[in-house]
Amino acid sequence: MIAIYPGSFDPITNGHLDIIKRASKLSEKLYVAVLVNDRKKAFLSVEQKIDLIKCATEDINNVEVIAFDGLLVDLLKDKNANFVIKGLRAITDFEYEFQMAQLNKDMNVKAETLFMMSSPEFTFLSSSAVREIYNFGGDISGYVPKCVEKKINNIKEVEGRRK
Ligand code: COA
Repeated sequence: MIAIYPGSFDPITNGHLDIIKRASKLSEKLYVAVLVNDRKKAFLSVEQKIDLIKCATEDINNVEVIAFDGLLVDLLKDKNANFVIKGLRAITDFEYEFQMAQLNKDMNVKAETLFMMSSPEFTFLSSSAVREIYNFGGDISGYVPKCVEKKINNIKEVEGRRK
């Protein structure tokens, strides 16, 4: 089974990594797919996001990190993937994710979405919370993988934005 875990990953958090680790055990190959979205002003560039995800997942053999633009259903076809993995943190995620899963299935009847519940310790976590803590000079070490924390602190461009 080939799976795709798509997202913005701006930046990857411990919550994302939890889903990646668990999903990689359910699939032969797991693509972590970073959305290229020029319309959304991002904290990190796509290259930086990919670099951070690669360092966080380097010990997981069947994970490949890729960038994508366009429709998720087209990526599924391109990669010959069987399903999309999405994480659900709380009921508030459900409505949006349910709509996306149905829309994707409507566009491609083979597009199955598999929802994984976030582990309880990560249900409050989001990339925007990590960005906010970082930008106000707070400590993000409990919320992102160790190598991600190190790399973010070394990214000069990001460092320049820190208050
Ligand atoms: N742990 C921690 N945070 C999590 C999480 C988890 N397990 N799962 C999701 N999140 C958070 C993210 O950190 C992000 O937080 P933020 O908003 O505070 O930055 C938020 O949930 C949303 O996640 P994001 O990665 O932005 O994904 P998304 O649900 O908005 O979807 C795509 C992104 C790529 C899946 C979606 O936009 C897509 O498929 N785009 C391609 C175009 C397409 O096919 N669209 C569908 C038809 S219109």
